[in-house]
Amino acid sequence: MDKKIEDLKMLFDEETVQKRTKELAAQINDVFGKNEDLTVICVLKGSSIFCCDLIKHLKMPVQLEFIKVSSYGNAQVSSGHVKALDLTLPALKDKNVLVVEDIIDTGCTLKFLIDLIQNTHHPKACKIVTFLNKKIARTAQIEPDFYGFEIDNKFVVGYGLDYEGYFRNLPYIGYFE
Ligand code: IMP
Ligand code: MG
Repeated sequence: MDKKIEDLKMLFDEETVQKRTKELAAQINDVFGKNEDLTVICVLKGSSIFCCDLIKHLKMPVQLEFIKVSSYGNAQVSSGHVKALDLTLPALKDKNVLVVEDIIDTGCTLKFLIDLIQNTHHPKACKIVTFLNKKIARTAQIEPDFYGFEIDNKFVVGYGLDYEGYFRNLPYIGYFE
């Protein structure tokens, strides 16, 4: 691996990240209310850390599911191809669903997942939350219902996001120049 942690520039520090995650949970609580069940779908691996922080602040009865896709390989630009590694889900018919992403870049991953969930599972509602939104890189027609921060077209790591599998454990978001 050719990147050093010392070369990482800070984009959002830990306090900022935690504060924003809490605010997103509050928005989600407002939209779904606290009486109806919510199935949270965490998109592995990138969303794992954000998702686990987020759901601690949700007030409704939550069921947590995991699916696994891969779209990047080890490159720093989105390939646009989505590799489905595990899409096993329980029945979601007439359920409220929240798909949790780490970052939306081209939008190809999310477009693929949302089409699949809508067309094969027929949930009552399906909303999307992403921690980071690279709006400028969007090619697929999809937008999140909630997002933490809009960012430029730079490659970021930390808080679940990786470079060649590394840096997911960092409690902040950083980037390499
Ligand atoms: P998309 O399909 O192009 O929207 O890519 C989405 C996926 O690519 C995300 O879920 C991430 O796993 C990965 N990705 C996109 N941008 C970055 C980045 O800046 N750093 C790390 N991973 C990224
Ligand atoms: Mg991801």
